[in-house]
Amino acid sequence: MNHFELSGGELACEDVPLSAIAEAVGTPVYVYSSATLVRHFTVLRDALMAAGLQDSLIAFAVKANPNVAVLRTLAEAGAGADVVSEGEIRRALAAGVPASRIVFSGVGKTRGEIEFALTAGVAEINLESEPELRLVNEVAHALGKRAAVAIRVNPDVEAGGHAKISTGKAENKFGVSLAEAERLYANAANLPGVRPVGVACHIGSQITDLAPLEAAFGKMRALVERLRAEGLSVERLDLGGGLGAPYFNTPTPPEPSAYAAMIARVMTGLGGLQFAFEPGRMIAANAGVLVARVQHVHARPEGRRFLVLDAAMNDLLRPAMYDAYHDIRPVKPRAGEPIAYDVVGPICETGDTFTRDRLLPPLQAGDLVAFMTAGAYGAAMSSEYNSRLLVPEVLVKGGRYAVVRPRPSYDDMLAREQAAPWQA
Ligand code: LLP
Repeated sequence: MNHFELSGGELACEDVPLSAIAEAVGTPVYVYSSATLVRHFTVLRDALMAAGLQDSLIAFAVKANPNVAVLRTLAEAGAGADVVSEGEIRRALAAGVPASRIVFSGVGKTRGEIEFALTAGVAEINLESEPELRLVNEVAHALGKRAAVAIRVNPDVEAGGHAKISTGKAENKFGVSLAEAERLYANAANLPGVRPVGVACHIGSQITDLAPLEAAFGKMRALVERLRAEGLSVERLDLGGGLGAPYFNTPTPPEPSAYAAMIARVMTGLGGLQFAFEPGRMIAANAGVLVARVQHVHARPEGRRFLVLDAAMNDLLRPAMYDAYHDIRPVKPRAGEPIAYDVVGPICETGDTFTRDRLLPPLQAGDLVAFMTAGAYGAAMSSEYNSRLLVPEVLVKGGRYAVVRPRPSYDDMLAREQAAPWQA
């Protein structure tokens, strides 16, 4: 469920018409609903509680939506943060996420990032390889600390979804095999700078079927049991993120209650574990839209009808990068038979096409449209390609809204660069 509904013939976010935001802030612009963010977090938390998994940390995957105001909304609801860089740690801390709820994941953490994380006191570092174990041990030891670490396991499960976002197969770069995890965990227990506290996995994103998750979690349970049988202490099990969001062209993702019940079933009888989750998309995707204005309707005499928007692939990369589908809704739908449009941005590459032959209500130049389900990996992946200004972000709460990332000026953009000293 989300809080973007038609009200009085036009699309609103909670109690604010999207047209009012477009007028005041300009387009393109991302708009987020506080109520949807909090609702998705609460639904997951309540589902875990109802399944008996009270002792769970829900660490929002910051990469999905790193806006500090979005993070603060979730932090106030009780969320932690799953981070993959020093920048994300800094964002989570700035948003008020306590370090004790921050989990540091990622395949190639640098020495500087590890130092920063340990000094900030993050709850756990998820290790992806043996060299990383050695590096964290060395850095922590030099700082006189003992880092709580989890070993990220690659359970070798096919999660489905787009190949660019599938992470759990043996051929992917993430984590170590189950057998290797056992060896590393035992090694880590003998190192002075680390304390192995658990194991972690994350098999992919936009997963719409519980079966691959269940298969992976079953392997993780068996691993915990084997480690414990060797006399090693395992206190935490991080089950990653990956639950899909409804994009309207894919199978409906499982309900959080079914997800939680499956986990409770797989983990039955396994005591003394704190669970951690790293959801990104399921919390943020439906909490945001990208609002754009129609620049031109360009109908070619030989047939195709292009809807040229003022938003482009630099503002929303997912269609160009993953062939992703986003529902497109007119902000003030006009009456009339649907028309097939190719919806495109102004950038000079064919990839700057959001969709082809999409049936939409009739649209005219100047009309506003909203790309739905754009709150995750939308603004997060935006850029200034073609020297287009970075897209602004707005947060709505009830009848109020605030610009939480302003559109920079052209002077701001140019001020970041300078001529080399030998250039006049
Ligand atoms: N944990 C780890 C270690 C991850 O790598 C990811 C996502 C997550 C959690 C959160 O996954 P989620 O719950 O959001 O599925 N840019 C792509 C998605 C990339 C996901 C990368 N990792 C997209 O736009 O579809």
